[in-house]
Amino acid sequence: MSKVGIFGAGWVGVVTGACFAELGHEVVIRDIVGEKVEALRAGQVPFHEEDVPELLGRNAERLTYTLDVRAVADGADFLFVCVDTPPTYSGDADLSRVWTVVDELPRLDERTVLVMKSTVPVGTGEKVRAGLDARGLDDVGYVSNPEFLSEGRAVSDFMNPDRIVIGAFEEADGDAVESLYDAIDRPVVRCDVNSAEMIKLAANAFLMTRISFINEIANVCELTGADVTKVAEGIGLDHRLGPHFLRAGIGFGGSCFPKDSLALKQLASNSGYHFQLLSAVIEVNELQKRRVVAKLQKHLGRLRGKRVALLGLAFKPHTDDMREAPSIVLASRLQAEGAEVTAWDPVAKPNELLRGVEVRDTPLEAVRDADAAVIVTEWPQLSELASPEVLEAMRGNLIVDGRNLLDPAEVRAAGFVYEGVGRPSSPFAGLPESEEEPAPAR
Ligand SMILES: NC(=O)c1ccc[n+]([C@@H]2O[C@H](COP(=O)([O-])OP(=O)(O)OC[C@H]3O[C@@H](n4cnc5c(N)ncnc54)[C@H](O)[C@@H]3O)[C@@H](O)[C@H]2O)c1
Repeated sequence: MSKVGIFGAGWVGVVTGACFAELGHEVVIRDIVGEKVEALRAGQVPFHEEDVPELLGRNAERLTYTLDVRAVADGADFLFVCVDTPPTYSGDADLSRVWTVVDELPRLDERTVLVMKSTVPVGTGEKVRAGLDARGLDDVGYVSNPEFLSEGRAVSDFMNPDRIVIGAFEEADGDAVESLYDAIDRPVVRCDVNSAEMIKLAANAFLMTRISFINEIANVCELTGADVTKVAEGIGLDHRLGPHFLRAGIGFGGSCFPKDSLALKQLASNSGYHFQLLSAVIEVNELQKRRVVAKLQKHLGRLRGKRVALLGLAFKPHTDDMREAPSIVLASRLQAEGAEVTAWDPVAKPNELLRGVEVRDTPLEAVRDADAAVIVTEWPQLSELASPEVLEAMRGNLIVDGRNLLDPAEVRAAGFVYEGVGRPSSPFAGLPESEEEPAPAR
């Protein structure tokens, strides 16, 4: 069994550490935020992710948490870099945290392998290798081992990945990292470091392309009377295409897709290539969130003084991650139109991200006196939204289902006006042309 050091106690670092401990390895996790380290030492997980608390508890004797670089590096066979790589103002990936790890790495007695799990631009490994060599740390190997886990199912994704990607400069370092995953019987892709870095960026870009594609199909469905949920089913059964990431909605968000798409676009631009398809994918996603406002206006007219409840705030269900969540854009667009916004989420804590939004404890409280309810995140708790209690509590009766969670016929039968994404409704004719308000939905 190996000693695994981990830099970063975020989603990727903690899940990686917990899973390697579960596989029997000795794990030390280091972060620079004292409260996170204290929380982990006290048995608390600093974010909401299924299975992680149990895994950390079950393997507590193989897990330690520290603020100290030496404690994580001393005696480590592997040092995993799991720090955040957010976008800079230019859209490029900010690698400052990665460089801090490299710069702080102490001189070690034994050979160790630095393993990059953070998502980084192609070419980063070569630069880090040069940086290590410049510091005389030629006894530190370097391997790119990108992470593909999805929040909300992170542990299961780590333990049963579709593939494990390992890009190495030295064959032996790649072999060593591969051996860490011996107990996980899944395909391993061995390649050079640049290709491993590109696999991660390209996989994310392709998933986003599918989302923006089906969203555009949904928008055309709205204009032509087709039902995108049936269209997606019919497309997805084609074995050449498959069913995943064909769910139309109000667009993607989260800590990875938005920043990784921008980073790949800028990486291409910096290399002299205009990645037109990816630019379109990003733009479609931006517009998709805003279409909700037009749908509300279609039924409610001008939104000044209207009350809109946003149901679900996290960027997707089963996580409390608010990074780049569509709810943030929606709330501020609605406020800019003069609407009052209330909200609910079972776990996300928006804090200052949603200024002026009244966050309530239950969906029923959030929709009280609302003219419209918008399903922003498809939490299972919302599948019963179209109830008599909700109808009674609301001032209006409009449900905008931004994730196609509900059955339109059932919702309408319950007395609501229903607007989904790409599903037959009253024809969508765009923004009202005159200043005159249409008759309210109720
Ligand atoms: N979250 C995901 O679903 C996911 C999936 C795959 C890949 N990734 C990638 O993995 C990386 C980490 O993502 P995340 O969501 O875990 O980020 P995160 O923001 O949740 O966690 C990063 C942690 O690193 C810590 N940190 C920063 N500098 C440090 C240093 N010098 N030493 C030790 N710790 C330090 C931060 O304090 C923070 O706790 C990113 O590059 C991301 O793109 C994320």
